[in-house]
Amino acid sequence: MLRIGMLTSGGDCQGLNSAIRGVAKGLYEGRPDVEIIGYLDGFRGLIEGDYRLMSPENFSGILTLGGTILGTSRRPFKEINDPADPESSFEETRFEAMIRNYKMQKLDCLVVLGGNGSHKTAHALSEAGLRVVTLPKTIDNDLWGTDMTFGFQSAVSIATDVIDGIHTTATSHGRVFVIELMGHKAGWLTLHAGVAGGADVILIPEIPYSLESIKSALEKRTEEGKRFSIIAMAEGAVTQEEAQMSRKEFKQSRKDSDFPSISYQLADKINNDFDQEVRVTVPGHYQRGGTPIPEDRVFSTQCGAKAAKSILAGEFGVMVAMKNNQMTTIPLTEVAGKLKLVPQDSELVAQARSLGIYFGDE
Ligand code: F6P
Repeated sequence: MLRIGMLTSGGDCQGLNSAIRGVAKGLYEGRPDVEIIGYLDGFRGLIEGDYRLMSPENFSGILTLGGTILGTSRRPFKEINDPADPESSFEETRFEAMIRNYKMQKLDCLVVLGGNGSHKTAHALSEAGLRVVTLPKTIDNDLWGTDMTFGFQSAVSIATDVIDGIHTTATSHGRVFVIELMGHKAGWLTLHAGVAGGADVILIPEIPYSLESIKSALEKRTEEGKRFSIIAMAEGAVTQEEAQMSRKEFKQSRKDSDFPSISYQLADKINNDFDQEVRVTVPGHYQRGGTPIPEDRVFSTQCGAKAAKSILAGEFGVMVAMKNNQMTTIPLTEVAGKLKLVPQDSELVAQARSLGIYFGDE
């Protein structure tokens, strides 16, 4: 008997169900004696021993389904040593509870589909002696060690649709639009959607911007007779002044802001000295929703198949990854706690600049 625990953790994304299906089908095809235990709502399920015994039928018909059939939640890594059950007098940490539940179920491996935070927890469990295999999930594409995460391409597609839609209304009204896109501290989503949607200015955390630079870009466009401008702004974008601040100062300055989010703040600043109407669009969690696009279905299926192969081969303590178009595995020790950001010498940034797209640092 091969007993596999599986959970999806952190923010959801498109492709989770197709990856889950890939793991399950790969395991069932590989061995006749596989039992899969689905932990509910991410690490919460493992901490509380809340699970569902899965059967092969549970993995049918979910290839195109958005979200995750297992549910998910955020359990920050820094809270790993908090009491598992604050109501109980039994002093057990969340970490200890996860190890206890893994052992109680006599698992042969725990499969974690997660992003950055989840990889820290998965790595800690692996270091504690549990057999763990992970899959790279996030629309942010910011996981170290893999060229791609699943969910990313679907989110780029949605974000691009948003920019496309805004283009027509921006043109009609001759307005400036600031479109705020997700991506946490990384600019991948905004960079790719910005290029795909033909944004005029792309602001990403890796390239701190100045207001002056944005204004001169907008003025230049007006001088050239362009009626409208689209600014694709990553939610993690920072000004050049903010980039110089300490973490504490930065957090405080964001806390002190009266605006719902940074795109509104930027729009307000542009509005103050620019003779063109400015509007804001924030698609938010819509970027993580709905059905995965075919590219993500393929990639998440590949991730699932590769994870199943690793488990069947007895290879643990690894994340499944895509490197140079090849599926591979990478040790969790190399992945945990590291972010993959857009490189300063990014080819795509250079190409975008060569087409006249502004990054706010010109
Ligand atoms: O990590 C995925 C992501 O969607 C980020 O792009 C975003 O910053 C964050 O999650 C939003 O988190 P939540 O779902 O907790 O609001």
